[in-house]
Amino acid sequence: MKALISNLAIFSIFVLFFISSVTSTDQVNNFLQCLPTHSHRSFPIADAILTPTNSSFQSIYQLRANNLRILSSATSRPVAIITALHPSHAQATVICAKRHGLQVRIRSGGHDYEGLSYTSDVPFVILDMFNLKSIDINMKTETAWVQAGATTGELYYRIAEKSNVHGFPSGVCTTLGIGGHFSGGGYGFLMRKYGLSIDNVVDAQLIDANGRILNRKSMGEEVFWAIRGGGTTSFGIILSWRVKLVRVPPKVTVFTVQRILNQGATDLAYRWQQVAPKLPKDLFVRLQPEPINNGGSNKTIRVSFIGHFLGQTDRLIQLMNVNFPELGLTRNDCLEMSWVESTLYWAGFPTGTSIDVLLNRVQVDRVFYKTKSDYYKAVIPRQGLETLWQVLMDIENIFVQLNPYGGRMEEISGSETAFAHRAGNLFKVQYTITWSESDGGINAAGRFVELSRRLYSAMAPYASSNPREAFVNYRDLDVGSNESGETDFEVAREYGTKYFGNNFMRLTAAKAMIDPDNFFKNEQSIPPLPTPPAH
Ligand SMILES: Cc1cc2nc3c(=O)[nH]c(=O)nc-3n(C[C@H](O)[C@H](O)[C@H](O)COP(=O)(O)OP(=O)(O)OC[C@H]3O[C@@H](n4cnc5c(N)ncnc54)[C@H](O)[C@@H]3O)c2cc1C
Ligand SMILES: *[C@@H]1O[C@H](CO)[C@@H](O)[C@H](O)[C@H]1NC(C)=O
Ligand SMILES: *[C@@H]1O[C@H](CO)[C@@H](O)[C@H](O)[C@H]1NC(C)=O
Ligand SMILES: *[C@@H]1O[C@H](CO)[C@@H](O)[C@H](O)[C@H]1NC(C)=O
Repeated sequence: MKALISNLAIFSIFVLFFISSVTSTDQVNNFLQCLPTHSHRSFPIADAILTPTNSSFQSIYQLRANNLRILSSATSRPVAIITALHPSHAQATVICAKRHGLQVRIRSGGHDYEGLSYTSDVPFVILDMFNLKSIDINMKTETAWVQAGATTGELYYRIAEKSNVHGFPSGVCTTLGIGGHFSGGGYGFLMRKYGLSIDNVVDAQLIDANGRILNRKSMGEEVFWAIRGGGTTSFGIILSWRVKLVRVPPKVTVFTVQRILNQGATDLAYRWQQVAPKLPKDLFVRLQPEPINNGGSNKTIRVSFIGHFLGQTDRLIQLMNVNFPELGLTRNDCLEMSWVESTLYWAGFPTGTSIDVLLNRVQVDRVFYKTKSDYYKAVIPRQGLETLWQVLMDIENIFVQLNPYGGRMEEISGSETAFAHRAGNLFKVQYTITWSESDGGINAAGRFVELSRRLYSAMAPYASSNPREAFVNYRDLDVGSNESGETDFEVAREYGTKYFGNNFMRLTAAKAMIDPDNFFKNEQSIPPLPTPPAH
C-alpha cells in the first residue's frame, strides 16, 4: 500500500513536471512571437530580446544582480530578458506576458536587497530598464525628466554639467536605478533639508497592466500618491519620473570624526541621538558604529560621525560648538567642495577622484549581504548601546548606519505620500552584514542571516513597536509573518503595516483601481483591496 502511494506520488510529480514544461515552452514561444506585434516598427524589439540561447544572457542576468547571496542561491532563471530600447518594448512585454501567463519582474539598477527584481518562483521574464536612461534637464523650470534606467550617479553628474548650485536628494550609493530607488522613497544626505526623492517628484510616466502609458493626470492622484513611496512594482512600470531640482550652495562642507570606546564613543553616540534629529536642516550627521580590531585580539567599537553641511566651515564649526560641542569638531576635520564632489565623498571615493566615476553604471566589487532596518522613536539608553556593541563584536562583518530624521522629514505629513515614516522618528537604522567568497560565500549565508536575526531581536526593546516599522527600500523577506492559516491579504497586511503604516489600506485601494487583477506582484507587493461581496 505504502509503495503504491509513493509510486503514485512519483508518477503525478512526473506528469506535473511534464505538463508544466510543455506549457512553458509554448508559453515562451507564444510570448516571444507576440512581442514584435506590439512594438514600434522603427525600433525592432528583436535587438532587445535575450533568451538562454544568447551568449550574453548569463552575463546580462548577473551584471545587475547586486546581492551575491541571492545570485548564488537563485534556483530559477528568467525565460527571457527584455532589455527595452524603446518604451514600446516595455509596453509589449506587459501585454504579451499577461496574455501568455508569464510574470514580469522589473529591474532598473538591480539593488533590491532580496533580489526581487531578478528572481521568482514562477515562470517569469525580466524587463530590464537599464537602456532607458535619458536625463532631460530644463534649467528654466529647474526640473528634469529622468528615465527609470538612469542611475543616481548619472543624475548627479548631469545636474552638475548644467549648474553648480543645483542638486537632488537621492541615495548615497551612485549605482542605484532611479526606477527602483524612488519607488520606496529614496533618501540621502539632503533628507533633512529637502525630504526624500519622492517629495520632489512632480510627475511620472507609468505603464499599467494593459500596456498603456499614463502620466500624473491620466493615472489620477490616488495612483500618483501610491507610487511615491508605496513600492512602484505593485502598480506598474515606471518609465520616467519628473523631478524638481533643489538649490545647493556653490560650496558645501563634509567631515568624518571617529571615536573608539575608550575615547568616549558610547557617550557621544548617546548624545548624538538627542542632537542629530534637532540640528538645523542644513546639517546632516550620520552615525556609523562598527566593530574593529584594536591591536592583537582586542576588539573595540569605532563610531563614525559623518557630516554634510550646506554651507562652509566657519558657520559649521559655530553650529557644532553650539549644538554638539562634545564631538570636538575642528577645522582639520572639514573639507569644502562642490555639491557634486560631496556625492563622491559620501559614496566612499577617495578625495580627488574625478566625478566621471558617477557615470560607472554598475557596482563592480559585489558582496554577499543581508540587511534589516528599524525606526527609533526614543533614544536608545546607554545600556542598549552597550548591548548593541556586544552583538556587533560577535559579528565580524557588519556595519550599522543611523540616519537622523527631523527637519523637512517632520514637516511632511505621514499621509501626504505613501511613505509613512515622518514626524516622531528620531532616526532610521540599517544593519548590514556583508561577506565575501573567502568568508564562505553562499555556504556561510545561513550563519550570517541567523546573526542578523539575533541582532534584530536584541534591538527589539528599543526600536519602534506595534508595528515594528521597516523601510521598504531595505527589502527584508523576514518582515511580516507566515503564521499558518492566514489569508494572502492578512499576510500582506502584516508586512504592509510595517512598511507603510496607516497607508497600507489606502494603497490596496489604489492598487484595486490601477491593477485589480494583481498582474504586478512579488513576495511583498500590495494586493488589491478585496471587493465586498455583492448583495
Ligand atoms: C549598496 C546599496 C546602497 C544603497 N543606498 C541607499 C540609499 O542611500 N538610500 C536609499 O533610499 N536606498 C538605498 N539603497 C536601497 C535602494 O534604494 C533599493 O534597493 C532600491 O530598490 C534599488 O533600486 P534599483 O532600481 O537599483 O533596484 P532593482 O532591484 O532594479 O529594483 C528594486 C525594486 O523596484 C522594482 N522596480 C525596479 N525598477 C522599476 C520600475 N522601473 N518600475 C517599477 N518597479 C521597478 C523592482 O522590481 C524591485 O522590486 C541602497 C542599496 C544598495 C544595494
Ligand atoms: C539572440 O539570439 C537570436 C537567435 O540566435 C538572435 O536572432 C538575436 O539577435 C540575439 N539577440 C541579441 C540581442 O543579440
Ligand atoms: C589590549 O587591551 C589591554 C587592556 O586595555 C591592553 O593592556 C593591551 O595592551 C592591549 N593589547 C594590544 C595588543 O593592544
Ligand atoms: C516567510 O516566508 C518567506 C518566503 O518563504 C521567507 O523567506 C521568510 O523568511 C518567512 N518569514 C518568516 C518571518 O518566517
